[in-house]
Amino acid sequence: MNLHSSSVYDCSILRLDKIHNRAGNITVVTGEETLPFPIKRIYYLYDIPGGEERGGHAHRGLHQLIVAVSGSFEVMLDDGKNKKIVRLNRPDFGLIVVPGIWRELFEFSSGSVCLVLASEVYTEADYIRDHEEFKTLKG
Ligand code: TYD
Repeated sequence: MNLHSSSVYDCSILRLDKIHNRAGNITVVTGEETLPFPIKRIYYLYDIPGGEERGGHAHRGLHQLIVAVSGSFEVMLDDGKNKKIVRLNRPDFGLIVVPGIWRELFEFSSGSVCLVLASEVYTEADYIRDHEEFKTLKG
């Protein structure tokens, strides 16, 4: 999977285990047992004001799993040729986003929390924040 050749069809929904309990549920993600990449970083978006959009960039090498652990939101994926919109609204399903995909997150429900499990530590050099540059790189 690389920056230049990846497509929105390489991004897939991953069903996570859900352990039922009378007192609630637990979902566990155990590194490479669950994901096709190692987890080096976890971050989450919260307190997102109504109508706000996040994302608006692509990554050169980063793999991510995006989960709506609370509430819901939409993710628009763009590979320079095809676009796909995915609605995330369950804590036991995640969206795998591979490198070289432009993403925009929007329609956050009130109080929603977006959890991201990422394959690399943060580095600004991994971001492509200019959509024209992205389209050029994707050929
Ligand atoms: P960014 O990834 O652009 O946010 P989003 O895609 O959710 O809209 O990050 C927003 C800011 O936070 C930016 O200044 C970089 C910083 N940041 C870090 O310092 N470390 C991180 O791990 C992340 C994800 C962001």
